[in-house]
Amino acid sequence: MDWGIQNRLSRIIKPETGHALMLAVDHGYFLGPTRKLEVPRETITPLLPYADAVMLTRGILRTSVDPTSDTPVVLRVSGGTSIVGPSLADEGITTTFEEAMRLNVTAVALSIFIGTEFEKQTLLSLADLVSEGEKFGIPVLAVTAVGKELEKRDHRFLSLCCRIAAELGAHFVKTYYCDDFEKVVGGCPVPVVIAGGPKLETFKDTLQLVSDAIARGAVGVDMGRNIWQSEHPVAAIRAVRAIVHENATVDEAMELFESGQTVKA
Ligand code: R5P
Repeated sequence: MDWGIQNRLSRIIKPETGHALMLAVDHGYFLGPTRKLEVPRETITPLLPYADAVMLTRGILRTSVDPTSDTPVVLRVSGGTSIVGPSLADEGITTTFEEAMRLNVTAVALSIFIGTEFEKQTLLSLADLVSEGEKFGIPVLAVTAVGKELEKRDHRFLSLCCRIAAELGAHFVKTYYCDDFEKVVGGCPVPVVIAGGPKLETFKDTLQLVSDAIARGAVGVDMGRNIWQSEHPVAAIRAVRAIVHENATVDEAMELFESGQTVKA
């Protein structure tokens, strides 16, 4: 792997632990003003010090993140669809590589929609993006999207998606946690991070998800709603961080969450 790509990846996946806590706040690109992300700056600012990277679009980066921030940026560069449109899968590339570089990003991210009528266009976008990334030393994160069909998240489907992403050159992959998750990781020769998905019933469920994912080979999380839709987002991200980077058990992280609830978001 090129030195520049390795260097940038190591700003996200920390060499000290081999793990990464990425904060996903890109939801508005197809969902609009999602609950608790209505005013992105208010949601993002208190959480940035605890994140190894922040994943977002150019619009939210420019309007809602201070340019003096030193948190690495993973820029979402795919989109063009909305939750009320005909298909979430019909994505294209929305931001040029030139602009991504001007924004001094650490990595770029796009979604791939395998199994849909748009799989070819999204996979070719991934391949093109990787070719650009290789040229400039910028890693590419492929997100194995399922659109509205959350029931697609089983290990056979996600293994297929992650492997195809890696075959096309993605430098790391974001997918969902599932039963037999170690099979997904085992068939994917590049690092895998998990999304959190819609908010779970309890925060302990979130911590269990993170713990199980790390135990089964994920290098970390790229998580959004289960952190910032919490009543105590700072306490939540600190607790997730304890599992990702400090090997905390679910109970230890839960204790940290409960004791941290007085920290103002
Ligand atoms: C979804 O397409 C977005 O890329 C989100 O970044 C991703 O789903 C992670 O956020 P959450 O943990 O809220 O699922």
